[in-house]
Amino acid sequence: MPKTWWRGAAIYQVYLRSFADGNGDGFGDLAGLRARLSYLADLGVNAIWLNPWYPSPMADGGYDVADYRDIEPVFGTLAEAEKFIEEAHGLDIRVIIDIVPNHGSDQQVWFTEALSAGPGSAARERFWFRSGHGDGPPNDWQSIFGGPAWTRVPDGEWYLHLFAPEQPDLNWNNPEVIEEYHDVLRFWFDRGVDGIRIDSAALLIKDPDAEPDGQDPFTDRDGVHEIYRGWRRVADEYDERILIGEVWLPDQERFARYLRPDEMHTAFNFDFLGSAWSPASLRASIERTLDTHVPLGAPATWVLSNHDVARPVTRYGRADTSWANDDRRDKAPSDLALGYRRARAAALLAMALPGSVYIYQGEELGLPEVEDIPDELRQDPMWTRSGHTVPGRDGCRVPLPWSGSAPPYGYSTAEPWLPQPAGWQELTAEAQETDPGSMLALYRTGLRIRAELLGDGTMTWLELRDLGTGVLAFTRESGLTCVVNLGPGPVPLPPHQEVLLTSGPVEAGLLPADTSAWLR
Ligand code: GLC
Repeated sequence: MPKTWWRGAAIYQVYLRSFADGNGDGFGDLAGLRARLSYLADLGVNAIWLNPWYPSPMADGGYDVADYRDIEPVFGTLAEAEKFIEEAHGLDIRVIIDIVPNHGSDQQVWFTEALSAGPGSAARERFWFRSGHGDGPPNDWQSIFGGPAWTRVPDGEWYLHLFAPEQPDLNWNNPEVIEEYHDVLRFWFDRGVDGIRIDSAALLIKDPDAEPDGQDPFTDRDGVHEIYRGWRRVADEYDERILIGEVWLPDQERFARYLRPDEMHTAFNFDFLGSAWSPASLRASIERTLDTHVPLGAPATWVLSNHDVARPVTRYGRADTSWANDDRRDKAPSDLALGYRRARAAALLAMALPGSVYIYQGEELGLPEVEDIPDELRQDPMWTRSGHTVPGRDGCRVPLPWSGSAPPYGYSTAEPWLPQPAGWQELTAEAQETDPGSMLALYRTGLRIRAELLGDGTMTWLELRDLGTGVLAFTRESGLTCVVNLGPGPVPLPPHQEVLLTSGPVEAGLLPADTSAWLR
C-alpha cells in the first residue's frame, strides 16, 4: 500500500459561510478564504474540505444544491474557485469539496422540470414521486429533520425527501442520475479538486414500495456500494483523487464495506466523535476503529467535531459528555473551563492516532458552542422542522472571531449572518497568535510535530496499570508516546527522555487530570 498524502493528512474543514467575509455582506466567501489562506498554511494543514459552495437557496446551509457546475454568487464565482484551488496548491494544501448525491434542491432545473412534466413523465423518474394512500402520504417514513418525509405537489402526487422538503431525494436506480454525478465529479476533478466528501453516503438506495425485506428501507442498503464503485472508477481516471464518505453507521462491519479497495478511500469516524470523555469509551472506540480499518489497509480518520455537532469545549464540560445532549433544549449547563481543558487533551489524542485528522474551523481557537442564539435568528431547518424542540446546529456555525474586541471581530465589516457573542475577544486568532499557551498555539505546535512524527502508520498500547484505569497511553513507530490522563487526579509521567508537548502544565513530573502529553 503506497503512502500517499491523504493517509496521514491533517484536514481543515471550512464552513465557508462563517469563515471570513471578503466583500462586506455579512456572509463568508471565497475572497475571505483566499485572504486567510496563509493562516491555514501557518496552522500546518495539508488539505481543506469545504462544505457545499454551489448555487443554493440555502434551505439547509447549501446542502440543497441548485447547480453543481457553478459557485453560489454569495460565495463568489467559478473563476474565483479556480483561483482558490490554484493558490491552495501553491501552498501545498489540497482541496476537498462536498458532493450531495442523496438529494438536490427544489430549485434545481431537474426538479422544476419534474413538477411541470407531471405524473408518469421521465422527468419525475429522476426523483421519488408516488401517489398517496387516500389523503395521506405513500408511507410513514419520517424526515431526518422531523415531520413526514413526503410532500404533496399540486397535481396530487407526493415526492420523497429524507431531509427538508426543499431537498427532494434523487432516484439512484435511474442511469441518468448515475451519469450526471460521474460528469459532476469529472467537472471538478478537471478543475484540480483533490478529493470529494460524499454527503449522507449511506442513504442513496431506497425503495418506498418494497415489502419489508429485513434491511432498513433507506439506510445502508446493499445496492449502494455499486454507486461508489462507479465513483471510484471515475476518481481512478485521475492521479490521486480521493473519496471520503459521510457514513453514519453504528455497525462497524457494515461501515467497513464502504472502505473496500474499489470503493471509498476513507470515511469519517463518527464512532470516535461520539465517544464520551471516558478512558473505557475512548479506548474501545480506538480499538474498534483500528480493528475495522487495519485489515482493509484503509487509514482511520479522527474527528472531534464538524458543522453538525456541538463543539467539544461545550460537550466535554457537561456531566454527560456523550453527544446525546445535542438534540435537547433543556441541557444542563456546561463547565467551559473543564471542557476547554479536555478539548485540549482530546486534540493531542486525535492528532497522535494513526491515520488522518480533521479540524473543524474554530476548533483550533477553542470556540464553545453558542447556545443562546435568539430563537428568531436560528437558521437551521432542524429547529423549525422539529417544531422548535431541537435547537439545531447553528451554535457550531457562528462566524469565526479573527481580531478586535467586539463583534464582528474582523470576520466582516457588516453584521454577520448569525450573531457572534460578546466576550470572544480572547478567542480571536489575533489574540491567540502571540500567546504560547493558547489553543491556536497548541494546534500549530501539535501539527508541526505531527507532520514529522505522526500521521499514517501503527500504534502500540502501553499498559500502565500501576497508574490506574484512567490513563490511556500508546507509542507510535517514531518513538513518540502519547499519554492521556482521563482519571480523577494527577499521575506520574512514564519514563521518557523528552517532553515534546503537553495540553496543560506538568509540574514535578505529574500529569494533571484531563491533560495529555507527548513524550519521547
Ligand atoms: C449531512 C450534512 C448536513 C446536512 C445533511 C443533508 O449530514 O453534513 O449538514 O444537513 O447531510 O444534506
